[in-house]
Amino acid sequence: MGTVYIDDHRPLDRINKDIYGQFSEHLGRCIYGGLWVGPDSDIPNTNGLRNDVVTALKDIQVPVLRWPGGCFADEYHWQDGIGPNSQRKTMVNNNWGGVTENNHFGTHEYFELLQQIGAAAYINGNVGSGTVQEMQEWVEYMTMNGTSPMADLRAKNGHPDPWPVKYFGVGNESWGCGGNMRPEYYADLYRRYQTFVRNYDPAHPPTKIACGPSNDDYHWTDEVMKIAGHYLDGISLHHYALPSITWSGKKGAALSFPEQEWVSLMQSANEMEELITRHSAIMDKYDPDKKKSLVVDEWGSWYDVEPGTNPGFLYQQNTIRDACVAALTLHIFQHHVDRVHLANIAQMVNVLQAMILTDGAKMIKTPTYYVFKMFLDHQDATALNTQDDLPDTVTTSVSKTDKGYLLSLVNYGLTVAEEVRYAFQTHTVTAAQGEILHSSTMDAHNDFEAPDVVQPEAMTAGLTHDAHQVTVTIPPMSVVTVHVQ
Ligand code: AHR
Repeated sequence: MGTVYIDDHRPLDRINKDIYGQFSEHLGRCIYGGLWVGPDSDIPNTNGLRNDVVTALKDIQVPVLRWPGGCFADEYHWQDGIGPNSQRKTMVNNNWGGVTENNHFGTHEYFELLQQIGAAAYINGNVGSGTVQEMQEWVEYMTMNGTSPMADLRAKNGHPDPWPVKYFGVGNESWGCGGNMRPEYYADLYRRYQTFVRNYDPAHPPTKIACGPSNDDYHWTDEVMKIAGHYLDGISLHHYALPSITWSGKKGAALSFPEQEWVSLMQSANEMEELITRHSAIMDKYDPDKKKSLVVDEWGSWYDVEPGTNPGFLYQQNTIRDACVAALTLHIFQHHVDRVHLANIAQMVNVLQAMILTDGAKMIKTPTYYVFKMFLDHQDATALNTQDDLPDTVTTSVSKTDKGYLLSLVNYGLTVAEEVRYAFQTHTVTAAQGEILHSSTMDAHNDFEAPDVVQPEAMTAGLTHDAHQVTVTIPPMSVVTVHVQ
């Protein structure tokens, strides 16, 4: 038995819904085939975007979507992706499989996707191979109202009104695929490029995000904050969970993996706690009032690709193990609401820890998708301070919503069911409804033949309450949410 003491009279801060953000890169079948099929496709679509995928994404209320990369962003020239398709320049996607990119999905199609799913924009600009002028003109093209060369071009291409750009990233992984830079050099470049990310819509200035560290590169964070901290609103952090822990050699399979790789993956995912704590502490030196965000704009599990698929396409299956990674990571973000205001799981469809997998006209929702669905009411709720004596394999987060309280918990242990008691300090509990995502096999997953193997169910056992407490028995390999009134 573990107990979670809830300080229901001492709220922490709002859980920015943008921590439930997602990422869509021109990589493998994320955009092409996964989201975009084109208006002439036999697959039912609206303006080229798959109806089945859009409907599923609307149900999880994606707050923000990062695009066009990733590594792709630093090779992307936005002007190649506007105007009539027949005139769009093709390019080689050097990072991801060396395939030819036809640029049929560009700025207009991205904003159409945002409009259909109801998400805000997070554009990642090109520093590695793009010019300052190119970046400035892209921002002008998207956000300038009235008359200007770029606003006029946008109108000529069919969209007179500007689009809001909530977040703008200046380069991606500039220490690696984005240009192999040193932090001092990048920080200076950041200062220069961001100067020209103009604010054409004074009511909604884009939140500017600098390229931050990979994993535990604390030196990078320190240098960028020292040199460019004054000019940024957020700094990114990328951390992927790997069963192999390190990047060398094989990473491990998404399915049919040994028990040890369950354990090591959870260990790797849990490193997020230390990374956020230590990078935040460095940011505190330069930003003690915590005005700037640590933006975890790439996170999730990363395995070897499914056998027989293109190694450059990063297509992997998704199991109850991934659901546990999602839940424990979202809990970590919610424990750091003072610094983590935006995060983007990688990636939305058919790539890495995806919400959705597609095969031609078929589509399935993954266990990770269901975690995002179960956690919906955490979005923009108030995180509550808790203290607990939970076993190592159980984590939780508690928020105050407009309907009551949402408790979420994950038990990523493999064998033992855990009883968890939630003790409220002042609230009188009148009702509690639970949902559980569970499997008794480590690699339980949904596929195109059996799409509903792993999906949430109402909790009919293992949940009780009295006036001051709620008690949940959570089986191993499970994610549970409880709505408390
Ligand atoms: O998400 C896949 C890739 O991982 C991204 O393109 C890159 O930024 C990171 O290394």
